[in-house]
Amino acid sequence: MTDADAAPCSVGVVVVAAGSGTRLGAELPKAFVPLRGRPLLGHALDTVARLPGLAALVVVAPPGLADPTGPSWAGVDLPAGAVVVAGGASRTDSVAAGLAGLGDVDVVLVHDAARCLTPLEVFERVVEAVRRGAAGAVPGTALVDTVKAVDAQGVITGTPDRASLRAVQTPQGFAREVLVAAYAGGSAATDDAALVELGGHHVVVVEGDPMAFKVTTRDDLEHAERVLALRASTWPGGLPD
Ligand code: CTP
Ligand code: MG
Repeated sequence: MTDADAAPCSVGVVVVAAGSGTRLGAELPKAFVPLRGRPLLGHALDTVARLPGLAALVVVAPPGLADPTGPSWAGVDLPAGAVVVAGGASRTDSVAAGLAGLGDVDVVLVHDAARCLTPLEVFERVVEAVRRGAAGAVPGTALVDTVKAVDAQGVITGTPDRASLRAVQTPQGFAREVLVAAYAGGSAATDDAALVELGGHHVVVVEGDPMAFKVTTRDDLEHAERVLALRASTWPGGLPD
């Protein structure tokens, strides 16, 4: 057996930022909406740029905003060597476009720009699980609410055991060839792991983080603003390591 601890590991990240943000209802596509004066995407990339082993980065932008010299990109620090490609109509299409622009790396992480405050530790846990041999790894958290299955009339049809459920986040990480094969299948899904699971691969859940929440609505954006305001007042010089 090879020593997984010693195995070198190059990481490629696809940040999907091509959604329109219908539920947020802002004037700009969601990833370009300002959060404390900088686009959500800028905050997301700040963390990605600090990821150990980062070898390639593709940002998937709305087709009309795929020029990183454009005014909407003010406040986004695109790391050197990063590539910007235009996304598609669905998240699945956008991830596929991002994957096509990614070079040859060992591990691919797919991350939602909308989860712009995801801590670096979550990225590292995902990479570590794949590096240690999982076909895929996703961050997840236990559910606090009991979940019901319902029919079209809203009548409850079942109560799944909450202990066996996880709410999953991004980044979701995979061995590159596994993810490329999953996307070659042409199916659609709301997350990347679902496509890999379809291929019969083992995808593990690693510990997620409340700060990996997705900015979906105006309330979420206000929550993110409050988190950053609190950080700025607690650590005026920036977050401690
Ligand atoms: N995304 C994308 N391309 C799409 C749709 C979504 O790159 N065609 C990205 C979004 O930019 C976001 C992530 O996928 O970072 C998660 O999607 P979601 O939160 O649903 O964002 P939107 O689709 O933009 O929002 P909404 O569904 O409210 O329109
Ligand atoms: Mg969407």
